[in-house]
Amino acid sequence: MFDVYKIRKDFPMLDDKNGTRKVPIYLDNAATTFKPYSVIEATSKYYLEDSANAHRGDYDLAFKVDTEVDRCRANVAKFLNANKTEIVFTSGCSMSMNLVAYGYGVKHLKAGDEILLTEAEHASNVLPWFKVAEMTGAIIKYIPLTQEGRLTSENLKKVMTKNTKVVSVAQVTNVLGFINDIKSLAKIAHEGGAILVCDAAQSAPHIKIDVKDLDCDFLAFSGHKMCGPTGIGVLYGKFDLLKKVEPFMTGGGDNARFDMCGNVAYLEPPAKFEAGTMNLAGIYGLDAAITYLSKIGMDNIEKYEEELHDYAISKLKTIDNLIIYNPTADTGIITVNVKGVFAQDEASYLNSKNICVRSGEHCAKLLKDVLKTVATVRISLYFYNTKEEIDALYEALKNGGNFLDAYFS
Ligand code: ALA
Repeated sequence: MFDVYKIRKDFPMLDDKNGTRKVPIYLDNAATTFKPYSVIEATSKYYLEDSANAHRGDYDLAFKVDTEVDRCRANVAKFLNANKTEIVFTSGCSMSMNLVAYGYGVKHLKAGDEILLTEAEHASNVLPWFKVAEMTGAIIKYIPLTQEGRLTSENLKKVMTKNTKVVSVAQVTNVLGFINDIKSLAKIAHEGGAILVCDAAQSAPHIKIDVKDLDCDFLAFSGHKMCGPTGIGVLYGKFDLLKKVEPFMTGGGDNARFDMCGNVAYLEPPAKFEAGTMNLAGIYGLDAAITYLSKIGMDNIEKYEEELHDYAISKLKTIDNLIIYNPTADTGIITVNVKGVFAQDEASYLNSKNICVRSGEHCAKLLKDVLKTVATVRISLYFYNTKEEIDALYEALKNGGNFLDAYFS
């Protein structure tokens, strides 16, 4: 039984320490999330009990870390319904996306090949592809969005050509919060001879992912947006495709041997992509985060967030001077502006009411043509948020039109 008040006790950031500490109304979960004790403890466990390197030592302590990393990888694989050999640990979603772009795109694309993106993508799913285009002569094209800002299979079909080699899209967009139907997009991409790369930064924390069912070729996400530590992320890739990816970062731990003539024998994936000492404490923490989320149940998380989102929309809709850009979002991302108030000013005002939101372009700088505004205020929910917090947001936003009065009162 999902009990948000019980869940909140798992998070030190939500503990008011018997009234001695001000707990923020934290509604910036698309940027990063709070961590439960179990994640903090798992991260500390690495430093307190297991502080040796992985895959390098011939002593018990090092073997213990090897075994733990292997177990954590298996846990991530289970979370995605993937195989262990298909899980690469990275520093985060951005690094994962760069690994696909540089390792696969630069290696396999040529002049005239097409890469399809959308205007709703985060910078991490745009800028690496710009580099690929610059380095290979490939062309970037954009799949048109509906007026609402949604990506449809029909629109992908319209822009696919025989030259399309990569379709790279978010499963959940970070400003509009729509869920894209990756399964049907992947099918269309494959029928046209392209691969489907999925940016799951905003989906993995909130909805159940089954990579076999989606049939995506690559999928990337970060630990810190799903209760895990910062500096750890994952790239899933189908094993046969991972074998075709060049390591874009090389060094110790990714090779079997190399010689003075420059011949290098790389290890099989995933080790091939994990040069240098990995973020071992981060891996321990990510494992704990995945265990924690799985215990609550991704279905329960999705259901609760939907309920909270609907509650928030029903209240916010009654505020006359509030523009809601995505009232029909499928996830807990609500993007707004108070008429006549610049987004950053509104966020500062909300801050004065102890409410944390993000304002600006949210790294999705192509989206302004769709939104028809340069900056917005983004409210992003997670399963530890409550209806009371939404009520506080509503009360603050109600006064948001009188921005200066409210701020200085
Ligand atoms: N990518 C994160 C966001 O959308 C930081 O806020």
